[in-house]
Amino acid sequence: MKVERKQSVILVPYPFQGHVTPMLQLGSILHSQGFSVIVAHTEYNAPNYSNHPEFAFHSMNDGLQGIDISLPSLENMYDMNENCKVPLRNFLVRMMEEEEEEEEDVQGDQLSCIIYDNVMFFVDDVVTQLRIPSIVLRTFSAAYLHSMLTILGQPEKYFPFEDSQLLDPLPELHPLRFKDVPFPAVNNTVPEPVLEFCRAMSDIGSSVATIWNTMQDLENSMLLCLQGHYKVPFFPIGPFHKMAPLASSTSILQEDNSCIEWLDRQAPNSVVYVSLGSLVRIDDKELIETAWGLANSEQPFLWVIRPGSISGFQWAEALPDGFEKMIGERGRIVKWAPQKQVLAHPAVAGFFTHCGWNSTLETICEEVPLICRPLFADQLVNARYLSQIYKVGFELEVIERTVIEKTVRKLMISEEGKDLKKRVVEMKQNIVAGIDMSFPSLVNTYDMNENCKAPLR
Ligand code: UDX
Repeated sequence: MKVERKQSVILVPYPFQGHVTPMLQLGSILHSQGFSVIVAHTEYNAPNYSNHPEFAFHSMNDGLQGIDISLPSLENMYDMNENCKVPLRNFLVRMMEEEEEEEEDVQGDQLSCIIYDNVMFFVDDVVTQLRIPSIVLRTFSAAYLHSMLTILGQPEKYFPFEDSQLLDPLPELHPLRFKDVPFPAVNNTVPEPVLEFCRAMSDIGSSVATIWNTMQDLENSMLLCLQGHYKVPFFPIGPFHKMAPLASSTSILQEDNSCIEWLDRQAPNSVVYVSLGSLVRIDDKELIETAWGLANSEQPFLWVIRPGSISGFQWAEALPDGFEKMIGERGRIVKWAPQKQVLAHPAVAGFFTHCGWNSTLETICEEVPLICRPLFADQLVNARYLSQIYKVGFELEVIERTVIEKTVRKLMISEEGKDLKKRVVEMKQNIVAGIDMSFPSLVNTYDMNENCKAPLR
């Protein structure tokens, strides 16, 4: 008897928290739809297999052992792309040979496609040679990619710019200003190798589609514009964290759950949650200004200071002497928090954030308004959209204790802060209302194909 084979997908994440999380969430969505899921990962930041018994894993030698890549550089992103080519190719060839060798009636899985993070663009070379279909996962907003492509199309129109232009609008890119250029600029221009890397990252090679951790209702015009450019189907099936039935944490760092007990002891809607995500590094001066800004705001706060996130320090040694003692029960500092749980906690009323895309989606879904402190890349675009278009966040333009104090108070206890809250509630409601079939998703397109087989026959 011929048994129908199960379809499998191979996922290739970029091994940093803000990218691993959405890829595993996507894997969980696909698994819940009947796919078997294999995660082909680098040795660096390998996922914890025991957290995800629903997936199979394959480890690729990234050749980066002994190198500190905790802050990704152009060089190590290229190295990773180069070094993983052979391991992935060998794995795929072996898999294809095994598939061929299997008896017709054996119930093995059949590889249907590879889904890779856009930073892992080496996958395109490998799958094109082997004629395996691929799909690119975009882990950031459509607005960011749109701004990147617009600038990459005509860099001479944007660079170099003058210091006096920093607050001027970026041509064709409302609401961005020159200071929000989402590339690392050196002397008000962007070096050609950086532009080259961004071109590689924005290219989709021979991929047959793109999947987005965003929503049609949130980014309709940007998505349509990008779809015109790429001319392949787009699947904006976010927010992944609300769609994925993932049971366990995708956290690379150990979460400190004791902060939830601390939140339980705080009044409803009283706490500002402070976290700058998994990659950002700030200097000790900013740490100190933030510490005094939070202290002087007189609002309760939960503050994530990630080890290694303060340049030149192991952890939070640069905090003012006796800071934690002085703050007492009103503040809590942890190394890493269970962020989604924190944002969903009734005590949390505001989020002081770097505006990474995952944090952005997580906070909107929990109706928590923001203070935006972006540092680089998409964070700058997200912050402008959050503050100027969606109007759910205050932008922190000056990192100075009195400004931080005032902004925290404005968010937590002013009429303007209440307006932000109202808008973020509306935004969340629109997102929830929009999660339907009005724009085809990967999942419902497969369902439609499957469900129509018998009626047509
Ligand atoms: C990086 C880039 O900085 C960001 O601009 C890009 O959009 C994705 O890659 P990252 O710094 O990791 O992102 O920020 P973000 O996208 O917000 O992802 C951070 C993830 O870590 C979130 O899912 C958040 O819930 C989680 N997190 C963060 C924790 O679980 N605990 C924490 O204490 C802090």
